[in-house]
Amino acid sequence: TNPQDKKILEDREIYLRMYVRSAAYFQENFVSSKGGMQRKYLLDRGVSPEMIDAFQIGCSREDWHGLEKFLLSEGYDQDKAVTCGLLVRNDQGKVYDRFRNRIMFPIHDLAGAIIAFGGRAIDSSEPKYINSSETPIYTKGKHLYGLYQARRTIVRDKRALLTEGYLDVVALHQFGFTGAVGVLGTALTQDQVKRLGGLCPRVDLLFDGDQAGLKAAVRAAEMFLIQGIACNVATMPEGRDVDDVLHGQGPEALGKILDSARSGLEFCVQTISRTYAPRDIMDWVRRFLDSIPGDDLRAYYLPRLATGLGMSETELRRSRFTSASSSVSETTGAS
Ligand code: UTP
Ligand code: MN
Ligand code: MN
Ligand code: MN
Ligand code: MN
Repeated sequence: TNPQDKKILEDREIYLRMYVRSAAYFQENFVSSKGGMQRKYLLDRGVSPEMIDAFQIGCSREDWHGLEKFLLSEGYDQDKAVTCGLLVRNDQGKVYDRFRNRIMFPIHDLAGAIIAFGGRAIDSSEPKYINSSETPIYTKGKHLYGLYQARRTIVRDKRALLTEGYLDVVALHQFGFTGAVGVLGTALTQDQVKRLGGLCPRVDLLFDGDQAGLKAAVRAAEMFLIQGIACNVATMPEGRDVDDVLHGQGPEALGKILDSARSGLEFCVQTISRTYAPRDIMDWVRRFLDSIPGDDLRAYYLPRLATGLGMSETELRRSRFTSASSSVSETTGAS
């Protein structure tokens, strides 16, 4: 290997070690008096000690230099800690801890290495969650929260549960739904879809029962269907998420919601025909069909779409091409 590659690999190892040590530091805070508030908050929300262990949950201190001092005391380099996103350097050159006074959720890669953190405030600090920035060891949208803990169940059951938040994943695992993973802040990405699809042929979506959750569920379902991955969409009660349902009504209630989940295609068609204008519905159909990479898969969806939309297949086929060409002629007419 050339010296530059060697340097990159060596740095990567140092970053990963820093993340392991930081997670240990956060866990130590959590059990000491320093983490009293955060621990009480989580236990009050019903998170079990077993889950706190399994997900290596910890907390950062109300201190601008807590982690910094710890890492320097262990001989780590300040610049490297900034580069890998644990510390921040501001415009004035001042260095401080990125995460302060938050419950810390380590994010693992598939091999179990800690590569990032999510941190939840327990007061009214905004934003509610801070997530790690892009770093040499963490690319946003490539990972799923809890995948390390869920991978065996997912492969065994040939099925994954996909939800929005850290605490939703933790609650699912706590109540026995151990194939659950979380999206991690941003919108679901193609990479995440492929990663899950590579492990199992079916994904159940459990997004929040609000407008944002509904929109995210449609987008997510589309992405799985386009890749030929079966998906079901479970609808949470208005204003609630999985964590609320599990801790409020128990696992049987969630089981019922899962049993009544609609197929992804049915969910998309129903949500779209209920909330979109007719023209936008056809735009959605066209975009959906055009995004499907294979003719077989398209042929599979076509009659199902037609039934769902109350149209004949021929109509659907025709509108697909007619609308596309009419928008071309519109453009031509305007020029
Ligand atoms: P929610 O906004 O649904 O969290 O965010 P919540 O259910 O109200 O609050 P808790 O977690 O139960 O206390 C769901 C997920 O979206 C991401 C996080 O991954 C969070 O778990 N998120 C949310 C962020 O990344 N940043 C934010 O500011 C908020
Ligand atoms: Mn939400
Ligand atoms: Mn919310
Ligand atoms: Mn939520
Ligand atoms: Mn919640």
